[in-house]
Amino acid sequence: MKIAIVGTGYVGLPSGVGFASLGHNVVCIDKDENKIKALQNGILTLYEDGLQELFLKAVQSKKLQFTTSMKEGVSSADVVILAVGTPPHPETKEADMRYIYAAAQELAEHLTGYTVVANKSTVPVGTGDEVEKIIRQTNPNADFDVVSLPEFLREGYAIHDFFEPDRIICGANNERALETIQKLYESFEGKTQMLFVHRRSSEAIKYASNAFLAMKIHYINEMANFCEKAGADIDELAVGMGLDKRIGHKFLNAGPGYGGSCFPKDTTAMALMARKYGVNMSLIEQTIEGNKARKVQMAERILNMVQGIENAQIGVLGLAFKNGTDDVRESPAMEIIAHLLQKGAQIKAFDYQAANNAQKILGDKIEYALTPEEVFENADVVAVLTEWKEFSELDVVSLSDKMRHKNIADLRNLFRNKKLKDAGLAYTCIGQL
Ligand SMILES: NC(=O)c1ccc[n+]([C@@H]2O[C@H](COP(=O)([O-])OP(=O)(O)OC[C@H]3O[C@@H](n4cnc5c(N)ncnc54)[C@H](O)[C@@H]3O)[C@@H](O)[C@H]2O)c1
Repeated sequence: MKIAIVGTGYVGLPSGVGFASLGHNVVCIDKDENKIKALQNGILTLYEDGLQELFLKAVQSKKLQFTTSMKEGVSSADVVILAVGTPPHPETKEADMRYIYAAAQELAEHLTGYTVVANKSTVPVGTGDEVEKIIRQTNPNADFDVVSLPEFLREGYAIHDFFEPDRIICGANNERALETIQKLYESFEGKTQMLFVHRRSSEAIKYASNAFLAMKIHYINEMANFCEKAGADIDELAVGMGLDKRIGHKFLNAGPGYGGSCFPKDTTAMALMARKYGVNMSLIEQTIEGNKARKVQMAERILNMVQGIENAQIGVLGLAFKNGTDDVRESPAMEIIAHLLQKGAQIKAFDYQAANNAQKILGDKIEYALTPEEVFENADVVAVLTEWKEFSELDVVSLSDKMRHKNIADLRNLFRNKKLKDAGLAYTCIGQL
């Protein structure tokens, strides 16, 4: 099939590479000329585990192409996938729909033959109706359908999740559109649960899922606070809870709070959408507030370890919002660093992939280390803020000899088995006495 993907970011690019690897002819469109130029020259514009090899293969096979021209990508496409951003609106904090609506308008005049416009961006319920209206108004003769095709990939695991998704959900309001999407995902038949629902249900499923996962994280974080007071152990508690199949093991890792480009914005958008309909979503509202407060509490926990030390030097391990990505959008690390800077701390940080993106936001307000080991030099405390598994392989006891004060704030529980307290270090982690 011929596929056009509008928006070549953390969703559009791995999806484009994925569909091209399955043999479809894919054109990725973005209005960011620098991005497209780099991609045309075989340079990836974002880091995602495992993406590089498949990307190069897909480009070499000519199954994957890049352009800034909507006409070039859309005019011969059977399916046009929208994967543009829906960030929080700067004032209302609802999903900002300007990119979706602009893309719908821009693509409309180039539709030829029957085309399915599939929305992969996370959008409020009813957006499909709106996109349909925009296209119809712009090009009354167009033969098209609009479907909702929410994306559930996890950054850091995007390639894995493309090829082995838990489920494929499609919201289509007629049979013809549904058949086109079935064809698009033909190679998943018999392997992946495919659910076809009404368009509005599909749009709601995405928000409901993300809000639920965010609540699960907030729940385990509150349990960690409880364990710290009650003398229980959060990791043991999580294992015990997770053995119940109704609960499951996933998303029970206590930490510094959830972040990233999805959970914070999607929980807020869900809560605001519910308010508009007059529906009480107190669990989600509490989760949003609790998660915001948690980052400040975590920053204070780090500062407590260096109380009384003048010009405290804080070493930070991790800037990305999670391991396996270079994405720092709403990263707990970035928010904790902002709070530490406000309190006058000096910071030297390291991340395997995210330092460039962090530098675009923090500039020279912090120092950037070239190795994780460097972060320990002259530090009064070293804080672990991202769960890169490579950090857990560091020889922290030896590295602590480089520190001014041997304080470790392990907010990802990576060093728990290293017996740091026995080795004479001051060590704090999450959810343990
Ligand atoms: N990042 C994730 O893990 C993830 C997971 C599931 C769903 N989503 C959802 O997918 C959507 C995209 O997220 P993302 O993280 O890939 O965003 P992103 O910001 O990384 O990428 C969006 C891209 O769209 C481009 N764009 C915007 N308007 C355009 C237009 N009119 N024409 C062409 N290109 C245009 C931008 O230049 C940008 O490159 C969002 O709605 C998000 O909520 C994201």
